[in-house]
Amino acid sequence: MDGVQDIGYGRVFAGFYDRIFPKDGYADLAAEKLAAQHPGGGLGTLEFGVGTGRIAIPLSERVGPVRGVDSSPEMLEELRRDIKEKNAPVTPVHGDIRNYTDDESYGLVYCVCATLSMILDPQEQQAAISRAAERLAPGGKLVVETWNRSGVLEMFEGRDRTSYFIPYPEPNTGLLTYSNLVQDRMLWQASHIWFENGSSNVGTEMARLTTPEEVDGFAVEAGLTPEHRVADWMDKPYSEKSLLFIASYSREK
Ligand SMILES: C[S@@+](CC[C@H](N)C(=O)[O-])C[C@H]1O[C@@H](n2cnc3c(N)ncnc32)[C@H](O)[C@@H]1O
Repeated sequence: MDGVQDIGYGRVFAGFYDRIFPKDGYADLAAEKLAAQHPGGGLGTLEFGVGTGRIAIPLSERVGPVRGVDSSPEMLEELRRDIKEKNAPVTPVHGDIRNYTDDESYGLVYCVCATLSMILDPQEQQAAISRAAERLAPGGKLVVETWNRSGVLEMFEGRDRTSYFIPYPEPNTGLLTYSNLVQDRMLWQASHIWFENGSSNVGTEMARLTTPEEVDGFAVEAGLTPEHRVADWMDKPYSEKSLLFIASYSREK
């Protein structure tokens, strides 16, 4: 209705997203690490792909107001409910990160939990990084967490399909995932079945697998300087086997 193109992720996942990616201590740790990258100076914070606010809400407790862009009305609805409950200074914005713009300059822009990988075209991934870079104030930071191509391929052990089950701590709960690699192993299709107390939910998603060097290239093209790369929010050193990577970039002062 407002012309925002949405891949439909929230239509499928919004109802059980917070169960798969809980608002837990690891999300708090991510918020802590992101807050440490914020240059301060009264500058704002912008999330690309805010989802249900798993990171934006705890981050707003540390750095003040966060603006969160997402193309999914369903994910934003979940976010609004939590903002109200926690009285958090997070502003949901319905938009597409490939063409998002506003009138503000931010100290920190971040795009985490593999949102960048959900964009399946390299030029459109570049567009999202460029839109993020444009919103940074001088000295501002961009942080990207996304799938690491070599680490994901390692999981497939040389085959084109694999499946795995992750039991969750609560009884009778877990995530079963069937995965396929397509188009020269650059695209990863994952169908998930979420089991909880005898009921199940099914959702399929697609990711474009990038190397960290490719994302560094997008950032450099957007005028940023690569600064730091780790494997997770506990600062585990990056290796080719890391499933995800977290990269930070800075805009010149
Ligand atoms: C895996 S969730 C991550 C949510 C949140 N960042 C977190 O860490 O829990 C990815 C989110 O990105 C959103 N998304 C995917 N492509 C997008 C696009 N082009 N523009 C805006 N949002 C997008 C999805 O709707 C979804 O809410």
